Amino acid sequence: MNDRIILFQPHGDERGQLVALEEFKEIPFRIKRVYYMYDTVKGVSRGFHAHKSLQQILVCIHGSCKIKLDDGKEKKSISLNKPYEGLYVPNDIWREMYDFSPDAVLMVLASELYDEDDYIRNYDDFLEYVNNHGNIVSKDEV
Ligand code: TYD
Repeated sequence: MNDRIILFQPHGDERGQLVALEEFKEIPFRIKRVYYMYDTVKGVSRGFHAHKSLQQILVCIHGSCKIKLDDGKEKKSISLNKPYEGLYVPNDIWREMYDFSPDAVLMVLASELYDEDDYIRNYDDFLEYVNNHGNIVSKDEV
């Protein structure tokens, strides 16, 4: 799986820490959108989708959470709990976010604007998509 953890350089001094993220430097794509989740209710899991094109960096800038990744062949779970580390998630990866601490703030840097057409929200469709190299045969077209 082509996910990876990217460690950002904290610019720390006697006043505290600061992390700066720039597109094509710390972030390997043009940043078109930023969103974040907070006040996630205990026990809630989110996500349950893949993206056809979107790349993302997930940063748990406060608290902790876990991310399940699945490329259709391999599954893994990653804990995020440091404001200076980002999880790079390429396209074609099913993801679920869970185990949010009450104080968790999960920030996502995204390579594209919000586009519902880029989502695959059904797991069986996802498996079909990755196993057919990106060609979903719509049931309407059969
Ligand atoms: P949703 O896709 O359900 O979040 P998750 O995948 O984390 O479970 O998104 C929740 C709501 O927010 C939904 O109404 C769509 C909206 N939304 C935007 O308007 N813009 C965005 O960039 C995102 C990610 C979501």
